[in-house]
Amino acid sequence: MRDNDSSDIPQTTAEKIAQFRQVVTEAVAASDTSAQERQHPKGKLTARERITLLLDTGSFVEVDEFVRHRSTSFGLESKRPHGDAVVTGMGTIHGRQVAVYSQDFTVFGGSLGEAAGDKIIKIMDLALSSKVPIIGILDSGGARIQEGVIALGKYGEIFRRNTMASGVVPQISIVCGPAAGGAVYSPALTDFVIMVDKTSQMFVTGPDVIKAVTGEDVDMEKLGGGLTHNKTSGVAHYLAPDEEDAFDYARVLLSYLPSSWDDDVPTYASDPDREITDQDRKLNTVIPDNPSVPYDMTSVIEGVVDPGSFLEVQPLFAPNILVGFARIEGSSVGVIANQPNQMAGTLNIDSGEKAARFVRFCDAFGLPIITLVDVPGYLPGADQEWNGVIRRGAKLLYAYAEASVPMITVITRKAYGGAYIVMGSKHLGADLNFAWPTAEIAVMGGQGAVNILYRNEIKRAEEAGEDVAKVRETLANDYTYSVASPFLAAERGEIDSVIEPAATRTTIAKGLRALKNKWEHRPSGKHGNIPL
Ligand code: HXC
Repeated sequence: MRDNDSSDIPQTTAEKIAQFRQVVTEAVAASDTSAQERQHPKGKLTARERITLLLDTGSFVEVDEFVRHRSTSFGLESKRPHGDAVVTGMGTIHGRQVAVYSQDFTVFGGSLGEAAGDKIIKIMDLALSSKVPIIGILDSGGARIQEGVIALGKYGEIFRRNTMASGVVPQISIVCGPAAGGAVYSPALTDFVIMVDKTSQMFVTGPDVIKAVTGEDVDMEKLGGGLTHNKTSGVAHYLAPDEEDAFDYARVLLSYLPSSWDDDVPTYASDPDREITDQDRKLNTVIPDNPSVPYDMTSVIEGVVDPGSFLEVQPLFAPNILVGFARIEGSSVGVIANQPNQMAGTLNIDSGEKAARFVRFCDAFGLPIITLVDVPGYLPGADQEWNGVIRRGAKLLYAYAEASVPMITVITRKAYGGAYIVMGSKHLGADLNFAWPTAEIAVMGGQGAVNILYRNEIKRAEEAGEDVAKVRETLANDYTYSVASPFLAAERGEIDSVIEPAATRTTIAKGLRALKNKWEHRPSGKHGNIPL
């Protein structure tokens, strides 16, 4: 806009507007075409195409469109791309406001320099002051190498804002290309990380540096591709097969979330049956007769929430626990459930951390927590102990104990030992706790208890040549019936009632209605110190 010959300087209002139109149209068209030519062959969309897919049609209001980078070194001074390496602005998703930034890999590899950093910082500040979610679309080579410490400083400013926004407005990162170096830590501080299969990678140090330092040979995909971070590291929460699906998931995810911590939880029109239905009665047949036989807890979740409303989060990581959002009577809830068909539903380090972060998210944003329990205990093993199952397992305890949103827990089958306490027990602060008649609540399972309590009887049976397996089974059944019985727990008020599985949906719905205005006083202080 400032490159004109003095004879071109427009004089009238009409000339000024015409010149403005021409400059903007040419700049955007040139950069869009060149961006498409560079991104599309790699199976990637441009920064603007991504915003168009994410937001409601025509809702985008761009901010800082005319910003240019300020670097005067290493050849950058002659290049002045429109908008630097990021497109920022506000728009709507399902009619609700969000703030968005979308890094442009075609400009200096989407790297973060002073101007691009300032643009992101400005839009984050705007999101915080208007209390709307922040969505970052990442496609970046990290700190702009030419800008040195200035680039590093901007990352620091962004991380600080991510932290200030944590628990205040939802933050979602959609990684659509490389996120290298500093570019990974902003997503890591956000609530949900969506990665696109095969075209996105996140790593702190790339394959070349790893090779040089450790000699390890690993390609970019294996090191930090979408599958790696969804399945192995747990950094990401959803693996999208392509970019369209990534934006679709983000839009659906947002439909469950309030715009900020003090906004109401989204509620959609619903007309649930308030009586027990034939559909509900299907839950009566979910639990197998043999307590060692697994079943799919997803079918229980789907049986108690509004039809088709369960949106699983982080499905590939620690599948022995299920976490996700759903709706009950049209209103959003968070669901945490043991998954008996994966590692028998045991708790381990990964599942504890996955669930703890999810519980804290729900608590921060006022989403009631529904917990479904079928857990035989913590996964035993030296590996777990050495990797800190004590310290890391305590996170889930902490998360439930500090949560102040309405919490309803249903024990479907096993609830043994410490895992019974952890999984939303009344003692940690759950409001309403129910158990199915198939529940077993005890320090340990019948077989384990028999080994310790009835050692002498078993020895005697062996010596008498009796059928030891049968003796064992009888004693175990006796223990389960008398000590682990849910009715015993109900007699002591440890649970509020034993319910027929078919009544679970209506019981939870009534419970949530009753707990609508839950309020808890907490001791004052700055913040807690969760075992990290
Ligand atoms: C400036 C960069 C850049 C960067 C890439 N480019 N990264 N320019 N700063 N950090 C430029 C390239 O020079 C190239 O410019 C264009 O972007 C495309 O890059 P390519 O390498 O051709 O693309 P590709 O082969 O797809 O590889 C992408 C990549 C690679 C894996 C991201 O570019 C890369 O490794 N970049 C460096 C990553 C990195 O080490 N960043 C610094 C991290 S340190 P031309 O003009 O040729 O198109 C960091 C510290 C922050 O971020 C710490 C905070 C805690």
